[in-house]
Amino acid sequence: MAKFINSKYVREMGDITKNMYRQGWDERNGGNISYLIDEHLVREYFKKDKFIRDINLGFEADPIVRNKYFLITGTGKYFKNVKKDPETNLGLVKISSDGKVAHLLWGYKDGGRFTSEFPAHLMSHASRLKVDPANRVIMHTHPTYTICMGACLPTDEVVFTRKLWKSNTEAVVVFPEGIGVLPCMICGTNEIGIATAEKMKEYRIVSWTNHGLYGAGKDIDEAFGLIETVEKTAQIYMLTLDHLVNEIPDEVVLGLAKLWNLKMKPGVIEE
Ligand code: 13P
Ligand code: ZN
Repeated sequence: MAKFINSKYVREMGDITKNMYRQGWDERNGGNISYLIDEHLVREYFKKDKFIRDINLGFEADPIVRNKYFLITGTGKYFKNVKKDPETNLGLVKISSDGKVAHLLWGYKDGGRFTSEFPAHLMSHASRLKVDPANRVIMHTHPTYTICMGACLPTDEVVFTRKLWKSNTEAVVVFPEGIGVLPCMICGTNEIGIATAEKMKEYRIVSWTNHGLYGAGKDIDEAFGLIETVEKTAQIYMLTLDHLVNEIPDEVVLGLAKLWNLKMKPGVIEE
């Protein structure tokens, strides 16, 4: 039977964490990723469930994610190290049928556990799966320009979305539903998890003011693509701040939405 360490899921996690570290977004242990793997795919590596140990969740997981398998980065682990030692820096867990515990199948070799942000991840998976059954990935990172932009704007989704859409013509095309915004909160808590998951009902991308971004997608590429588009756009916004002459006109944003037949967040650009 093929070894899980050689699976495409472990390889993808190693590649993306390395890439994100190189972007300068994931200093030290910054950032975390969770990847839902369907049971029939897990079975290609584990004939049946054999758990190493149980890890308490500290909250009750939504029924939609119970009995599901997640590959997750470990708490305190550095993105730059995942590729060279996946079995220490990643773990594969199955959420228990009562939603209280994660059964460890593979990884966290040094006795570690999943990211401290697992409440926000698992609650966000639940929100996204209810609106998009194809969603598989939740990705959290600390992209510099997005954090700068959040610090310079009111915590207002219409304002944040408008600034992004009018800074880069790709922005409205990639996230027509806009961006969710949370104020500065204490991270690693169930409270920030609940608040993030509430936003994830409406948005695939959520900004944590003074902290970073949460992105969702059907695969690693999609979640990362969303985050890199927001970050690139935030960079354009910050570099042009106070120098701006040619802002994208409202008609161009509206024209792009029409061309691509997009359902835009209402109330951001007046028609
Ligand atoms: P973890 O090391 O627990 O994943 O935390 C990193 C982080 O980004 C906190 O928001
Ligand atoms: Zn963080």
